[in-house]
Amino acid sequence: MFISSAISCVSVVYFFSSFVTAGRPSIDCNFEDSGTRVSDREDSCIYYYCTSRRLWELRTCAFGASVPKFYRKYYSHKRTKLNLCRNAFSTECYQTVLERKKGEPTPPKPTPRSTTPTTPRPCLKEGQGRCPGGGKCCGDLQCDNKGICRPLEDFVCPVLGEGCLGNHVTNQECCKRDPIDTNIILNLKCGPGKTCCVTEGGECEENSDCCEDQNDVVCKIDENNPEEPKTCSRVEECASLKEKCGPSSAKQLDCCNDVTQLQCSREATCCAERGVMCSGSDDCCRGLECTAKTCQPPTRIECPSPIDIVFAVDTSCSVADIDKDHLRTFMTEVTRAFNIDDNLQDGVLVGALTFNQGYQHTAYLADGKDDGKLLNMIENMNLTEVGCKTNTFTALDVMKNIYFTQDHGERPAAKNWAIVMTDGKTVPPGKQAKTFKNADALRAMGTEVLTIGLPQSDGSIVGEDEWLGIAGGIKENVFTPDFSKLRETLVSIGGRLCGEQNVYVNT
Ligand SMILES: *[C@@H]1O[C@H](CO)[C@@H](O)[C@H](O)[C@H]1NC(C)=O
Repeated sequence: MFISSAISCVSVVYFFSSFVTAGRPSIDCNFEDSGTRVSDREDSCIYYYCTSRRLWELRTCAFGASVPKFYRKYYSHKRTKLNLCRNAFSTECYQTVLERKKGEPTPPKPTPRSTTPTTPRPCLKEGQGRCPGGGKCCGDLQCDNKGICRPLEDFVCPVLGEGCLGNHVTNQECCKRDPIDTNIILNLKCGPGKTCCVTEGGECEENSDCCEDQNDVVCKIDENNPEEPKTCSRVEECASLKEKCGPSSAKQLDCCNDVTQLQCSREATCCAERGVMCSGSDDCCRGLECTAKTCQPPTRIECPSPIDIVFAVDTSCSVADIDKDHLRTFMTEVTRAFNIDDNLQDGVLVGALTFNQGYQHTAYLADGKDDGKLLNMIENMNLTEVGCKTNTFTALDVMKNIYFTQDHGERPAAKNWAIVMTDGKTVPPGKQAKTFKNADALRAMGTEVLTIGLPQSDGSIVGEDEWLGIAGGIKENVFTPDFSKLRETLVSIGGRLCGEQNVYVNT
């Protein structure tokens, strides 16, 4: 009599009370599964609820409801949308979550009424209809918009992946805050398919979590905070191979660097860097060639000992623009050919200046500590002449007094090489003696001086005697290519500086 009246009275009165985070089931709680439940095999009073935060939260069946034995076994390794607290009666499930948290002993269960209920009309059970006119719902059951009694938890605002508005029993918008922890803002909205989806900036697991009506928004990791969960974020546009880039381009895009390493070239187009796949040399950045399907320097020079090289490049008016571009490519190939590094085993440092009327700075030896920075300085070196002079004496002077000083990165343990590239003789001619004197002064401090003599824009050769004089009369230190043969000159110079056997040419 006692048991049967208790069942009739309370067995259908159950609801979820509050929750504490407890041990998690061994199966994952994903976004797709939010709202599903898993039972605890050991404890008939609790089950786990998968939240939109991908957390299993512990919930307690209260007031005599419990998870039936079969459910406990069956749903401990399977998710279900079923309300697990049903169809059973357990004398142990009076404990409230608060007590569970405190670890307090179970309070004595309330004495069930042993007399016939005085309510004339029985309350409506879960799934029973025509509330509120046809009767009140039992316990904490609520009357939904179709007049059916439902458990309270069905009235929680819909979370990610659940139907919303007309697709939800309560006709509710998606949860603005986590129904469990209201400190958590969910960034949900009722998306185009009347399903809750994540708005821009909200946490997500997959692209399909992000609302479809947001263009260019994907679920991705913030590269600056890779530890943080993914969020629905706008894809940043970037320029692909051969597309326009940089501040001077219309859209001012950076080159895409996530998959392949691309650089924005001097010509403001994206080019493939060293080691990147290519289909032809015009894919590759300056100073690289497409070799065996990747961009590689055409020449590699592996010096057995450290050296410091400073180039002085003549940009006087007699050098044609097309030849200046050859010079730029040559200087870039030089920088890519050596192992640019300041280590004292085999590191090579490169500095550069230009000269005409006076000299202009390009890069110090010290800039080679960062080979990317040096490469950028060299590729973008300013070859615009300033005045129509060839002040070779000035170039040699600043090489000695500025460029080959420890203040600007010169290493006493590395051999110094000064390389003068010019298409003619010292202007004004009366200063030629000063040119020779300054070259001698460089040699006196242990720097070997090399000249690369180039033809003038009309093809004539002017200045062979001076080139030999600058090189101290050493014929092996004078190179006389034309502008289209500078790559071969790099191979010869590499042999002179580091030994022919240490020069590798791509074929
Ligand atoms: C290059 O140098 C010239 C002469 O000094 C100067 O007028 C010009 O602005 C420079 N160009 C750049 C891009 O710095």
